[in-house]
Amino acid sequence: MPDTPTSVSAREPVLRVENLTTTLFLKDGPLRATEGVSFSVYPGETLGIVGESGCGKSMTALSVMRLLPRGLGRITGGSVTIAGVGDLTRLSDRQMRRVRGNDVSMIFQEPMTSLNPVFRVGYQIGEAFRTHTKVTRAEARRMSIEMLDMVGIPSPEERHDSFPHQLSGGMRQRAMIAMALACRPKADNRAGRDHSGAGAEADRPAKAGNRHLCRADHA
Ligand SMILES: Nc1ncnc2c1ncn2[C@@H]1O[C@H](COP(=O)(O)OP(=O)(O)O)[C@@H](O)[C@H]1O
Ligand SMILES: [Mg+2]
Repeated sequence: MPDTPTSVSAREPVLRVENLTTTLFLKDGPLRATEGVSFSVYPGETLGIVGESGCGKSMTALSVMRLLPRGLGRITGGSVTIAGVGDLTRLSDRQMRRVRGNDVSMIFQEPMTSLNPVFRVGYQIGEAFRTHTKVTRAEARRMSIEMLDMVGIPSPEERHDSFPHQLSGGMRQRAMIAMALACRPKADNRAGRDHSGAGAEADRPAKAGNRHLCRADHA
């Protein structure tokens, strides 16, 4: 098959991880947190990565995002290719900041540590719009409410003005999904949603949302 390096087609994976090796440089010596990991995700597809605790699931997701602990972890082999962007392992930190949220995003495992307790939920979702696009406050609010609605949060207008502690665990997880999908990334990494009931509850609307977004991105 011929190479199709730049255009995004239905046959091209949105995300292709090839032979990924991530090394943690610990006091006791280097530790391979991932070794030779390969997988592809095609448009509209959801991929689950399953494995025992410590096998490298989180490190795989953090490597894709290039959010490995600074000074400790580094991608030491392989490639992470996003359709239309290229190999993320070759990008500068600055280029990578533009890619995060736009082309790839991550829903972190622990909503209470990722959501800021002192800001309203909707404001935090709107931050993605305000960072990546030029929108007025009113527009950001409308878009945030739309995202909350899309991930299946009831009374999205009221919830927009709630603080994280006023939401149930499942709703917080959905708010995180809304935040990660706010800028319509091609690929989103959902770390560890397998671990909790809240994750399971959040799964269905996220899938619906993802299909919607994948259509928007790849039609
Ligand atoms: N901050 C860290 N310091 C040292 N070792 C770590 C750190 N984070 C992860 N590891 C090690 O990296 C490997 C992969 O961990 P991780 O990706 O968190 O596993 P999983 O998410 O599959 O449970 C494990 O051996 C773990 O002990
Ligand atoms: Mg993990």
